[in-house]
Amino acid sequence: MILIGPPGAGKGTQAAFLVDTFRIPHISSGDMLRAAVKEGTALGKQADEFMKKGALVPDDLVIGMIIERIGKPDAQGGFMLDGFPRTAPQADALDQALKRAGVDLDVVLLIEVPDGLILERITGRRSDPQTGTIYHIKFNPAPADVVARLVHRKDDTEEAFGARLAKYHSETTPIIPFYEQRGLLRRVDGVGTPAEVTARIKTALADLS
Ligand code: AP5
Ligand code: MG
Repeated sequence: MILIGPPGAGKGTQAAFLVDTFRIPHISSGDMLRAAVKEGTALGKQADEFMKKGALVPDDLVIGMIIERIGKPDAQGGFMLDGFPRTAPQADALDQALKRAGVDLDVVLLIEVPDGLILERITGRRSDPQTGTIYHIKFNPAPADVVARLVHRKDDTEEAFGARLAKYHSETTPIIPFYEQRGLLRRVDGVGTPAEVTARIKTALADLS
C-alpha cells in the first residue's frame, strides 16, 4: 500500500489506524530521514540540508534507503509506504524493485486536502519524540503529562511549508495518474476530523481488510 497526500494531509495520523487494521509496517521516508538526521549518519547529514528548507532529498539517496527497507523480513507480508514515492524517478524505481521481487501493489490511497487548510495543520503540529504520536495544538491536543516533551518539526515553518507544498504540486501530483491508469488509486477526502477521515478510509478499503 502507498499513502500519498500533500504535507499535513494526515498521512502519519491515519497510518496509525492502518497499521492496526492491516498489521503491516508503516514505512515513512520522512520519519526515516529524520531518524538519520538525529543519529548524525552520513545520509542524515546530507538530507538535513534539503529537509530544513522544505526541498526534496535527492532521489538516489531516498530510493536506496526505501528499497533496502522494504527488503527487510518484517515487510515480506506487506508494507505501507508514506511519503515515498514522491517523484517520477522514485515511482519508476519502486515499480522495478517490486517487479523484481514479484510483489503487486494492492492500493494507492490519496488523502486529498485543499491547500488553504494545510498551513494551520502544519504550524500547529507537535510530535512526541518518545512514542512518535502526532498531535495538534488545536485539532488533537496532547495529554497534559506529555506536553513538556513535545517537539515542533524544523520544517514546519511557514517558509519551509511553502516550498514543500510547491514540490508536492510540481513533483508528486504528476505521479498520481501513473497509479490511476493501473486502477490502483483510491481517493479519500481528508477534510473533517481525523476520526471522520478514518471512517472514510475504512469504507474505501473495506474490501481489503
Ligand atoms: P514527510 O515527513 O513525508 O512530510 P510531508 O509529506 O510533508 O508530510 P507531513 O508528515 O508533513 O504530513 P502528514 O500527511 O503525515 O500529516 P500528519 O498526519 O502529521 O517529509 C519531510 C521531508 O523529508 C520532505 O520535505 C523532504 O525534505 C524529505 N523527504 C521525505 N520523503 C522524501 C522522498 N520520498 N523524496 C525526497 N525527499 C523526501 O498531520 C499534520 C498535522 O495535522 C498534525 O498536527 C495532525 O494532528 C493534524 N491533523 C491530521 N489529520 C487532521 C484532520 N483530519 N483535521 C485536522 N488536523 C489534522
Ligand atoms: Mg508525516
